[in-house]
Amino acid sequence: MRRKLTGRLPSLDKEIHSLLSENQKRLERTTLTELFGRDPDRFSNMHAAGAGLILDYSRALADTDTLSLLLHVADDAELQKKIKALLEGAMVNNTEQRPALHTALRDFSGEAPMQDEVQAVLGKMDEVVHQLLSGEWKGSSGKVITDVVNLGIGGSDLGPKLVVDALRDYQTGDVAVHFVSNIDRSDLDRVLETLSPETTLFIVASKSFSTLETLENAKAAKAWLAEAVKDDAGYARHFLAVTGSVDKAVQFGVDPENIFPLWDWVGGRYSLWSAIGLPIALATGMENFHGLRWGATNMDQHFLNTPFSDNLPVLLALLETWYIQYWGAGSYAVLPYDHNLRYFPAFLQQLEMESNGKSVTVKGKPVKYATAPVIWGGVETNGQHSFHQFLHQGTGLVPVDFILSLSANDECSHAWLVANCLAQANALMTGRDDKDPHKRMPGNRPSNLILLERLSPESLGALIALYEHKVYVMSVLWGINAFDQFGVELGKVVADRIYGRLIGEGEGEEWEFDSSTEALISLYKSANKK
Ligand code: F6P
Repeated sequence: MRRKLTGRLPSLDKEIHSLLSENQKRLERTTLTELFGRDPDRFSNMHAAGAGLILDYSRALADTDTLSLLLHVADDAELQKKIKALLEGAMVNNTEQRPALHTALRDFSGEAPMQDEVQAVLGKMDEVVHQLLSGEWKGSSGKVITDVVNLGIGGSDLGPKLVVDALRDYQTGDVAVHFVSNIDRSDLDRVLETLSPETTLFIVASKSFSTLETLENAKAAKAWLAEAVKDDAGYARHFLAVTGSVDKAVQFGVDPENIFPLWDWVGGRYSLWSAIGLPIALATGMENFHGLRWGATNMDQHFLNTPFSDNLPVLLALLETWYIQYWGAGSYAVLPYDHNLRYFPAFLQQLEMESNGKSVTVKGKPVKYATAPVIWGGVETNGQHSFHQFLHQGTGLVPVDFILSLSANDECSHAWLVANCLAQANALMTGRDDKDPHKRMPGNRPSNLILLERLSPESLGALIALYEHKVYVMSVLWGINAFDQFGVELGKVVADRIYGRLIGEGEGEEWEFDSSTEALISLYKSANKK
């Protein structure tokens, strides 16, 4: 029942829209190689820098006309006003009547909203991190905590997991941090089989404290601890919680002293800057957590204060919207050439697809244009030996963001990595002619290159904030709300009902399933007959 989504962006001037369509047709008749040939300064003219990052968008399917037209798109959507609104705490999440103040979590100026709350939680994090890393915090049998397991899913997992893994070189080694998210028990078991209850601490990370996966894992963790822990005072040495529902955490049995509050003005997928980032601080120390926040706040300032023609999140967003709207791109690949960023594509999937996977405007009207693409990707040369074939010769246009650090620890392997990254960007663009159509590479496939000096807390913070803001800009251009996610709810309700049927409860309820679901429930039941 998908409609054809080729309409004009909501606030875009008709004339600009038709000029963009004409521009696209013109660019289709030329090639990126020709555009480089015509403008020897194309790299100089088409790169921008901010918050320590460089964006090279010279391999974009765009010329100077495209860019000036796209800047009109931003102006028509009153983007500058909307950026201020976000950072100042306006109700940008209109359906839930909330601001989205993740930027306030990384403010160093003291001028952002909510600073009393933010600073109080940072202070509490500082204390607990110090106690755990110094070994002052002991488990119930008096042993030092050596392992921390974060139990959380979605935004309560992906962000911290990405950062802890990415900042491997910055880990203090005082405690090992693990992540468990899945309802599948083997996720938890794989981690627990390597740990001892006496020296393990769990963080129950759930904004709502009602997420099935996290609560089931927390219950299982509690049962596993029972071998070493005898009473509530003992559990207090092994459980922390980060949540917006303090009451529910207390009810679950977490000591109120061990609960870090979260607020409704922080969206789950934007929450790694809050106490949801506790695993980051525990793995790398508070200083590096602040480094991450610092990098992000630099990007916030860049986003707020830089003209759109040099504004990294705005440029990324305009180009992505351009490909979706005018070139029919339905997916977008993010390819970090850095093994330490291997979890970045998964993080971005939630960030972009949960934020902008919407089909009605902020006013609830159906959109007439495509919104969030499928975000996918994988790390470095591994992808070259699997899905890059599709990027080079497949039928669809898939714009790519390559992410690359200029320097890394191992210079020798790093030079190979850089060579491969630049080679892929170049090959996608230039293609190769051949008499044999099977060997012909069409080329003309666009990519951006995002350059970091080196992967560090600061550059990673800036990189994450860059994508957060890109997603926001796209939501503004599309006139949708990036901060709710009602689409995830129905599946949870249905799963509850099916679960009831699978375990023999809920028979005879009014809820009727289709014949396929009914047949599958029966198959499950016969397979599991006792
Ligand atoms: O189901 C989707 C979702 O609500 C995400 O938006 C969120 O990041 C995740 O679940 C986890 O939610 P919570 O932190 O409340 O457990």
